[in-house]
Amino acid sequence: MEKLRYDNQVIVVTGAGNGLGRQYAKFFAARGGKVVVNDLGGTFNGKAGSDGAVADAVIKEITDAGGIAVANYNAVQEGEKIIKTAVDNFGRVDVLINNAGILRDVTIRNMKDEDWDVIMDVHVTGAMRTARAAWPYFRKQRYGKVINTSSSSGLFGNFGQSNYAAAKMALVGFTETLAKEGAKYNIHCNALAPAAASRLTQTVWPPEMMEAMKPDSVVPLVGTLVHSSCKETGSIFEAGAGHFSKIRWERSRGFIAKPDDSLTPDVVIRNHDKIVDFSSGASYPTSVADSVSLLEQANAQPAAMTGEQVSFKGRVALV
Ligand code: NAI
Repeated sequence: MEKLRYDNQVIVVTGAGNGLGRQYAKFFAARGGKVVVNDLGGTFNGKAGSDGAVADAVIKEITDAGGIAVANYNAVQEGEKIIKTAVDNFGRVDVLINNAGILRDVTIRNMKDEDWDVIMDVHVTGAMRTARAAWPYFRKQRYGKVINTSSSSGLFGNFGQSNYAAAKMALVGFTETLAKEGAKYNIHCNALAPAAASRLTQTVWPPEMMEAMKPDSVVPLVGTLVHSSCKETGSIFEAGAGHFSKIRWERSRGFIAKPDDSLTPDVVIRNHDKIVDFSSGASYPTSVADSVSLLEQANAQPAAMTGEQVSFKGRVALV
């Protein structure tokens, strides 16, 4: 297969001074992309920083290897300045990789407002500000690719990370919505839950895991998703240690009750097994409209349902 290239593409990578972002930036620059290396050079918990040397070191690596890159030292919360760096230096923006991130691990019992706010600010507000600033350029040129960095903590929850998990799950809804808003303009947006050795994971992972989980092994998926040949959008992917997978929502076939006075908690209790049963008739919703189609599906398969047919919001359903 031909080697993927990114010639004439302008790629913004936030938090590109370390870890995953640094690998993305080097990859794109090595394959013809013009890269904005954003990093404010802060500590892993966002309690201190800034250090322009962090982004500068990546720029040096890229330019020494013959690549094209420019540094930006703004916090992602000032996303418009990051996009301006791309436009001022390269005249356009094609790809936005929202990767910058910090951790403030603490249980809910000990959560301070600041621990919550700073995590929301960097991950969620930061991603929104960069995407909002890039959007008019994407729309005008009818082309754009966005990756938002989620996390398995957000998808599944993780002890001591309610702030981080909430922010990372927020990015999933953000991604799914941008994919819908961008569809008509050929703007594709996907979420990534990576796993890689970095300063964010070094305090929690043992040395052998750090050795096995090189950030380089996440790069091929990101490179594929933001390539012009890729049409994938609105999806959630996992990548780490050479494993790649896609995550989707699964809805049980469930149980549809008559929405009248007879609908009491008893009805729900009696049908609990049906509500939580994924073994047959499960569906994979990708839009709000799919909640209506669920009723159609239920009606199409009367064998597994019992009861009389009723009309519900203009649709035929079973009770
Ligand atoms: P890292 O700490 O090595 O790199 C993150 C970079 O973001 C740092 O250079 C930091 O200075 C920069 N940064 C932090 N706040 C910033 C801000 N407000 N503005 C601009 N730059 C800022 O971390 P790593 O592991 O490479 O993480 C990258 C992304 O992947 C993060 O969003 C993280 O939450 C996410 N992630 C990483 C996982 C892993 O296994 N390493 C697992 C799941 C998610």
